[in-house]
Amino acid sequence: MRYSLLDGGKRLRPILAIRTCEAFGGAEAEAMPAACALEMIHTYSLIHDDLPAMDDDDFRRGKPSCHKAFDEATAILAGDALQAAAFEVLARRGSDPRLVLELAAAAGAAGMCGGQQLDLATGADVREIHRRKTGALLTAAVRMGAIAAGAPDRALARVTRYGRAVGLAFQIVDDILDVSGSARDLGKTPGKDARQGKKTFPALYGMEGSRLRAEACVREAVTAVAFLGERGARLRELARWILSRSG
Ligand code: IPE
Ligand code: IPE
Ligand code: MG
Ligand code: MG
Ligand code: MG
Repeated sequence: MRYSLLDGGKRLRPILAIRTCEAFGGAEAEAMPAACALEMIHTYSLIHDDLPAMDDDDFRRGKPSCHKAFDEATAILAGDALQAAAFEVLARRGSDPRLVLELAAAAGAAGMCGGQQLDLATGADVREIHRRKTGALLTAAVRMGAIAAGAPDRALARVTRYGRAVGLAFQIVDDILDVSGSARDLGKTPGKDARQGKKTFPALYGMEGSRLRAEACVREAVTAVAFLGERGARLRELARWILSRSG
């Protein structure tokens, strides 16, 4: 659990939760249980995603995947335990019960796990795969940040729009980087999507078509948080960063 969680990773979901909390006048500490819980769920999803029964990837966060460094049984259990630990962190801090609900819904069948299942199936719609396997947790990150700050429901709907757009842009760019990125920058094995016949944006729309679609999502995200004015600057910056990242 420590091997996969504590070393490496961009920490995008925690950063989104914290920055959204701050945009609504909350302090970093108020978003911290949500931030940690999100990263635990995300790390568990990566450990399981890399297993031979799923994407069969030997390399993650710049080092051997959990099941390569240890073994498959350990990787399965480390993922299971990180999932439980995420909810333990949220519940122990006596946080708003809505945070637990957000995370459970985003991680489960309607969200990440369901998306991962569709990713392995044939005939699934690529937008639906991406919305669930990646978008759900990123959307939960911003919603949890807003909830931790006590943001009103109306604002929650707007950050939800931001989260969905950022989530789709992020996975489109992940697909693009699988084609054009280097193992060194990515810290994981490139070229796997094509080899495994994954349904991705580049496979469907080409590289240029994918980039245009990611740019459109980022524009939508930026617009969605325009109402925050100067307080939304960091969120707009984060959305734009998605397009420029190389790892
Ligand atoms: C990788 O996520 C898996 C996807 C959902 C695309 P990240 O690119 O955020 O991975 P880390 O956390 O930085 O390792
Ligand atoms: C995985 O998507 C999303 C998760 C829920 C883990 P990918 O399979 O494209 O993620 P990478 O490229 O292995 O990081
Ligand atoms: Mg996968
Ligand atoms: Mg994978
Ligand atoms: Mg990928």
